[in-house]
Formats: sequence, C-alpha cells, structure tokens
Amino acid sequence: MNEFVSDFWSPWIAGVSLLSIVGCAVFLWATSIKRTSAKVDITGHVWDETLAEYNNPLPGWWTWLFYLTVVFSLVYVVLFPGLGSFKGILGWTSTSQYEGEMKEAAKTYDPIFDKYLKMDVKSVAANPEANAMGQRLFLTYCSQCHGSDAGGSRGFPNLADKDWLYGGDAEAIKASITTGRGGIMPPHGPVLGDAGVKEVANYVFSLSGRKHDASLAAAGKPKFEQVCAACHTPAGTGMQALGAPNLTDKVWLYGSTEAAVIETINKGRNGVMPAWKDFLGEAKIHLLTAYVYGLSQNK
Ligand code: HEC
Ligand code: HEC
Repeated sequence: MNEFVSDFWSPWIAGVSLLSIVGCAVFLWATSIKRTSAKVDITGHVWDETLAEYNNPLPGWWTWLFYLTVVFSLVYVVLFPGLGSFKGILGWTSTSQYEGEMKEAAKTYDPIFDKYLKMDVKSVAANPEANAMGQRLFLTYCSQCHGSDAGGSRGFPNLADKDWLYGGDAEAIKASITTGRGGIMPPHGPVLGDAGVKEVANYVFSLSGRKHDASLAAAGKPKFEQVCAACHTPAGTGMQALGAPNLTDKVWLYGSTEAAVIETINKGRNGVMPAWKDFLGEAKIHLLTAYVYGLSQNK
C-alpha cells in the first residue's frame, strides 16, 4: 500500500478533516446568535406577492442536534480510523471484524462440516441436510457457469446427467472441483485445411448416427484415425483422463450444429474449470462433491 500512498498526505488529510468538523461547529455558532435588533429581519426573497422569508436563527433543538453530530464525529475519529492514517484508539479494522465474524460462524458450522467430512460421499449424498447445504454452496459458487439446476450451457458441462468429461464417480468429481480442469482441444484447421475439416466433421457425425455425407465421411475416417484418435480413441468414445468428449453420443458440449462442430475442429476449444481447493477448503468441497454426485444418481 505504501508504494501508492506516501505518509506525506496523512497530516494534511487529517488536518482538513478536523478543520471541516470544527468549521461546522463555528458556522453553527455564528448562525445561531440571537438578533438583538427589534426590526423585522427579512432576507428579501418574496413569493406569491406577499410571502416573505424571515431571517431568524435556527430553532434551538435543531442547533443542538447539529452540535451533537459534531461531538459524535470528533469522538468517532478518535476511536475509529478516520483521520489520515491514524488507526483510532480502538484498533478496529474491517479485516479484523470480518475475521471475527468468520470465527463466530465457524464455531457453529465447523462441527457440522466435520461430521459430513467423516462420512463417505454416497452417505452424504443421501442425507437431506447435507444436500441442502451442498445446494446452497452450488448456487453461490457454481451456478453462474453450470446453471442453477446444474444443467450447464454451451461450453459448460451438464453436471446432472450421466455423461462425464472427466468421470462421474466420487473421486473424479472431487478431483474436478479441487484442482480444476482444463480441456485442451488443439486447432486442426491449419493441418486439415477447409476440405479436410469438412470431411472429418462428417465422419464425426457418422459416429453418433447423425445425418451425414457418406463419401465425405469415408474420406474423413483415415484423417480422424490419424489426428483425432489419440485423444478421442479410434472409436471416438472419448478419454476421461484428457477430458476428451465422447463423440458417439448425443451430448454436445459446444453445440450440435455443423457450424459448431466445424468451428471446434478448426479453432480448437479450451474449457476451463477453476480450482476451488484454496478458496472453499476440503469440507465444503466434500459437500459439493456429494451434491453433484447425487444429481445424476436418481436419473
Ligand atoms: C467459471 C466457470 C465455472 C465455474 C464457476 C465452475 N465451473 Fe465447473 N466447469 C467449468 C467448465 C468450463 C468445465 C469443463 C472443463 C472442460 O471443458 O474441460 C467444468 C467442469 C466441471 C466438472 C467436470 C464435469 C465432467 O463432465 O467431468 C465438475 C464436476 C464441475 N465443473 C463442478 C463444479 C462445481 C461443483 C463448481 C462450484 C464450486 C464449479 N464447477 C464451478 C466451468 C466452471
Ligand atoms: C490433444 C487431444 C485432442 C485431439 C488431438 C483432438 N481433440 Fe477434440 N477435444 C479434445 C478435448 C480435451 C475436447 C474438450 C474441450 C473442452 O473441454 O473445452 C475436445 C472437443 C472436441 C469436440 C467438441 C465435442 C462437443 O461435445 O462439443 C469435437 C467435435 C472434437 N473434439 C473433435 C475432434 C476432431 C475431429 C479431432 C481431430 C481433427 C480432434 N477432436 C482432436 C481433445 C482432443
């Protein structure tokens, strides 16, 4: 922080703050002096022909209320940070307040988290209280990408079905959440050329029994076996160790249109699932794993 704010400004800022508070008090005092002259004092503003504005001091209760706020601010800047870099005699910081509140919350929730952390994922998934906690965590941290029903969207996998990029058992789901995932589908446009990409795309469509051009697909087959099979397997069923999707089913992460598939082959794809280890910790990840695991079990 010191690189940005030198100590030079602190006394000036503190001085200006104090001066403003004292200035308010002086201004109040000046305006509340009783006028001694008996003559009616009028500001000169007149509306609606006869309506004139009197120049009287503020009512007493109003003035005293203002003095009270002045005293309050002086007490405040002595106790709390408010004058330049002076930290206030109570030593309060927003960080310490936040940490205190987190500690209080931990007292209540840690025993519950610990209880579930000791149970295996399947039993946690079957527990309604744990599921409700898992769902709340999911809605807070995961729904912006995977959807509030975990149904996913283009580029963000559906977590509520039985189709998995990296595996749907408890360990695989936990690993996905803990350390994150990064699917690397390299661009193949330069290698295959436009015609080659179209041929391979038609072969990909043939794998899932979709409408395709048979002669283009036949030309694409050897190319697929040469460049794509290393990751997607020669049968096109995918490889969970790499997150390479199964191309023989009806689930499309990046869309099922010909244009989408051609774009994938041309330009490649790099889906990124962030790692949550440091941010959420083991206990919350355990609850989330059980929640996600449970979603596809009843289908
Ligand atoms: C910034 C967006 C984003 C957020 C937030 C996010 N994810 Fe993901 N997640 C992804 C993407 C993208 C993938 C697919 C990665 C890939 O394409 O290789 C993924 C993959 C996964 C997978 C693997 C799915 C499979 O088919 O194997 C799981 C499980 C998962 N996420 C769970 C979660 C959970 C639980 C949370 C909340 C803690 C979460 N994600 C938050 C983007 C996100
Ligand atoms: C280095 C490994 C690798 C190679 C080689 C590779 N892919 Fe992929 N492919 C992947 C991965 C990983 C993904 C998922 C990307 C993501 O999660 O963002 C993917 C995604 C795809 C998708 C999108 C699937 C969907 O559900 O939307 C298609 C289509 C595809 N690949 C076809 C091919 C074709 C055709 C080739 C050969 C020209 C090929 N891939 C070569 C790893 C590979």
